[in-house]
Amino acid sequence: MFITFEGIDGSGKTTQSKLLADCFAYHDVVLTREPGGTYFAEKIRKILLTSEIDRTAELLLLLSMRQEHMEKLILPSLQAGKIVICDRFIDSTIAYQGYGLGISLELIEKLHNLINIKYPDITFILDIDVKLALQRAQNKNKYEVMDLSFYNNVRKGFQTIAAKNRHRCHIIKETEKASSSQIHNTIINMVSIR
Ligand code: TYD
Repeated sequence: MFITFEGIDGSGKTTQSKLLADCFAYHDVVLTREPGGTYFAEKIRKILLTSEIDRTAELLLLLSMRQEHMEKLILPSLQAGKIVICDRFIDSTIAYQGYGLGISLELIEKLHNLINIKYPDITFILDIDVKLALQRAQNKNKYEVMDLSFYNNVRKGFQTIAAKNRHRCHIIKETEKASSSQIHNTIINMVSIR
């Protein structure tokens, strides 16, 4: 099974990916992330998240990293019967590079067709108020200093992706009051009824 977590920075998806990965006592689980996941992609990640890069060049870089990640880690793990949990994947590219930075969604889709990606079986999109999320995010990367309108567009992008892909995407509403363990329970229930 291939499970991805998506959402804007500060939405709590990294915490939820880890909590879910710790739950599968009788399965081999691979917890991975994007940008990153392989030796090459983790090296490029540091540069990508801190440098100003032409947005199309950046898109190509993200796709190149994803291709490597698919071939070297995700597909072999799935073929070996493991559960793969990935913190961010294709929907982040559509939401950030497409809805956020304004790159054509058609171009993003065409490039993904070239690398022949496998879509996740389940995607959890953690949806949260932008101001609340940015209070939690710690300005660790270049996106986290972008303005509210950028993040509102990215958030709307994730909501649109969810509406278009109901067969795999589940929106999980994050509020100030909901604890990580309550959200985790909702996620676990969704995984187990599949
Ligand atoms: P993330 O790992 O969530 O950051 P952090 O280390 O702060 O928890 O993601 C890194 C950033 O990369 C995030 O701001 C979103 C961005 N990103 C894209 O813009 N496009 C993509 O395709 C991916 C995978 C990430």
